[in-house]
Amino acid sequence: MDLHFTVNQELCIQCGACVDDCPFHIIEMAAEYPALNPKRVHHCIRCQHCLAVCPTGALSILGRNPDDSLPLPQSLPGSAQVTALIKGRRSVRRFLPEPLTAEVIDTMIATVANAPTGKNNRQCLFTVIDDPATMEVFRRETMDGLRRAVAAKRLSENLSYFRHVVTAWDQGRDIIFRNAPHLLMVSVPPAVTTPDADIIIAMSYFELLAASMGIGTLWNAMIRWALSTIDVDLYRRLGIPDDHVRGYTLLFGRPTVQYHRTVQRDEAMINRVRLA
Ligand SMILES: Cc1cc2nc3c(=O)[nH]c(=O)nc-3n(C[C@H](O)[C@H](O)[C@H](O)COP(=O)(O)O)c2cc1C
Repeated sequence: MDLHFTVNQELCIQCGACVDDCPFHIIEMAAEYPALNPKRVHHCIRCQHCLAVCPTGALSILGRNPDDSLPLPQSLPGSAQVTALIKGRRSVRRFLPEPLTAEVIDTMIATVANAPTGKNNRQCLFTVIDDPATMEVFRRETMDGLRRAVAAKRLSENLSYFRHVVTAWDQGRDIIFRNAPHLLMVSVPPAVTTPDADIIIAMSYFELLAASMGIGTLWNAMIRWALSTIDVDLYRRLGIPDDHVRGYTLLFGRPTVQYHRTVQRDEAMINRVRLA
């Protein structure tokens, strides 16, 4: 396995930070400078901690130039900003019809692809509808499928709610998609170590990034229930591989609603452990 690992000897201060931080101990302090241990190199999970932890930017792995990384900690937001983001994020159910550009969406996805995944497997597939015409087709086909399921009495007791969803649609109210111009689904191959967590973490990061950009999101379980009621064919039409583990959906777009303050949640339930 060639990891394209190099150490710039003019910059390296031989501090050993890369050796200490490697989670699988594949780096060792060779004669003078860090080097890969050939017997352990196959354990590398490509996390790039060695590149990130090097104080002088002397180390490159996987051909990455440390100068292309964001410098830390000066690029990080303060805790007050992150707190406001977490508390101020809301589920948006009123969207402007105008779409975001594909460039904005691609940049958001590229950022969110930095979210952690079990064993750094990075297998998330981001399925996105960035085109309003496609969104319209998808909404219509979902509703048509639900209508057929209602007519054929195929709705289970706990999904009987969809009858009202179809009625509301006929009256011009879109309870499922909320007229959002875009949709994101994250899926992963079943063989990854932590499929459910990988999906939910990526979507949560997307939601927070979106909120920081003034873009509204809505987690949506109803779309998943609707698709599972109709059949998997719509998933196929979305190009999501049959064997993928699928998560919920995030609807997103520019909101027409603005929230002027945070809500005030009850205190968190904390189970504080003391072991003697
Ligand atoms: C996994 C998940 C699925 C959700 N599904 C839906 C949904 O199908 N439709 C909807 O209107 N809201 C949905 N929500 C939004 C919740 O109702 C919302 O988060 C909650 O009411 C709290 O409001 P807030 O997000 O503004 O704090 C979902 C939220 C989560 C976390």
